[in-house]
Amino acid sequence: MARTQRTVIPLFGAGTLMDACLAMGLPVASSCQGRGACGKCVVTILAGGQHLVTPEAHERRVLDRDHATEEQRLACQCPVPESATPVTITTGYW
Ligand code: FES
Repeated sequence: MARTQRTVIPLFGAGTLMDACLAMGLPVASSCQGRGACGKCVVTILAGGQHLVTPEAHERRVLDRDHATEEQRLACQCPVPESATPVTITTGYW
């Protein structure tokens, strides 16, 4: 069965991509409750990634550990943009 790939434009302001997804009713995989350990919350940035801050050292270590691509971020560690710049993401399981 083919998966339906769904994208989202997170809200801007405070919080993380995970916060924005959950606020929109979109589930985000996690087994560490957003502590940046499990790597299950990884999302792929489809557009607008230039508006995101670069990963901090902890996020970078987990992404590297999990062989993430340059377009992938940990939703629980990546802040949403402060300005009104849309970012489109997918998880592959939405
Ligand atoms: S929820 Fe575990 S690393 Fe993000």
